[in-house]
Amino acid sequence: MDSLPTLKLRILFASTLLVITSLFLSSFTLADTGPPATQQLQNIVNQAHSKFKDLKDGNNANYIPILDTVPSELFGVVIITRDGQVYATGDTDYAFSIQSVSKPFNAALIMQEQSPEALREKIGVEPTGLPFNSKIALELYPARSVNPLVNAGAIASVSMVDASSEKQRWKKVLANLSGFAGEDLTLMKEVYRSEYETSWSNRAIANLLFNYERLYSEPEEALIVYTKMCSVGVTTRQLAMMGATLANDGVNPRTGKRMLKSAAVPKLLSLMLTAGFYDESGFWSYTAGLPAKTGVGGGIVAIVPGKMAIAAFSPRVNDAGNSVRAMKAITYISEQLKLNIFEGS
Ligand code: DON
Repeated sequence: MDSLPTLKLRILFASTLLVITSLFLSSFTLADTGPPATQQLQNIVNQAHSKFKDLKDGNNANYIPILDTVPSELFGVVIITRDGQVYATGDTDYAFSIQSVSKPFNAALIMQEQSPEALREKIGVEPTGLPFNSKIALELYPARSVNPLVNAGAIASVSMVDASSEKQRWKKVLANLSGFAGEDLTLMKEVYRSEYETSWSNRAIANLLFNYERLYSEPEEALIVYTKMCSVGVTTRQLAMMGATLANDGVNPRTGKRMLKSAAVPKLLSLMLTAGFYDESGFWSYTAGLPAKTGVGGGIVAIVPGKMAIAAFSPRVNDAGNSVRAMKAITYISEQLKLNIFEGS
């Protein structure tokens, strides 16, 4: 039998142990209340925004006159994970014209309606190494349209949509973009008017493609619907959701609707990696290491396959037509979170 003082010591020891254990457990529970990844993703989005918000390099695109009137200081950064969690900072609800960021999503529509093989045969899958509106590429490459992410290939992809009228073609193109966004998108009529009134270069491309039997509808119809497609309004959040659909194996995280066959997703992503930035695609792959697509309106969406999409928007673009701040912000996030698809971990 223990003496009284020994018993008291034992009780004191046991209760101290109990207090220490419960303190340890409660600190563990506290640390566990928010998944660290959640805070980490919001922090990185905030950091990317504050790091590059004062950068003034580049200029608004002005060959489409209305783009020059968009406030240059706008800047939004959004991550959406494959399960639909949103991390956003800045002007993420400002609607801007999607421009060339629409192109991979329309290529997806062709892969769905026909097949990845039809896209390869009727348009092509090679990078041009040339600007997005190159006419020389049409003469240099036997495929003419070359790939669906340059203007020629995107106009061809619009012409491949299975439709018997301009109205039906446009309806299908818009419905497809909306399906990727998981909500109804609309045409920015003034952007469309501004671009269509000045689209002599794209009209030349459409006519050249038709001449080489690489356009699959009447040229002006393809040009009109292509120009409308580029004039669809999106916010940075909506763009990120479109990308998250690709990160989620082709299924929209919000609606659960499959927009692209699983087997076609890596094919589309490979095109985005090799041609998403036109004559800057090598640089982009070398630095950010992510499949992505840019638009001259200032939007960029990058895909981290199986994980998330990162979208950024800011109107000032460089000579290749790619948003300077958006490129920097996405590259920063890719580096900080080690998202480069070529990293081994
Ligand atoms: O056809 C055009 O020139 C525009 N609608 C789209 C070009 C574009 O976005 C180039 N991307 N950075």
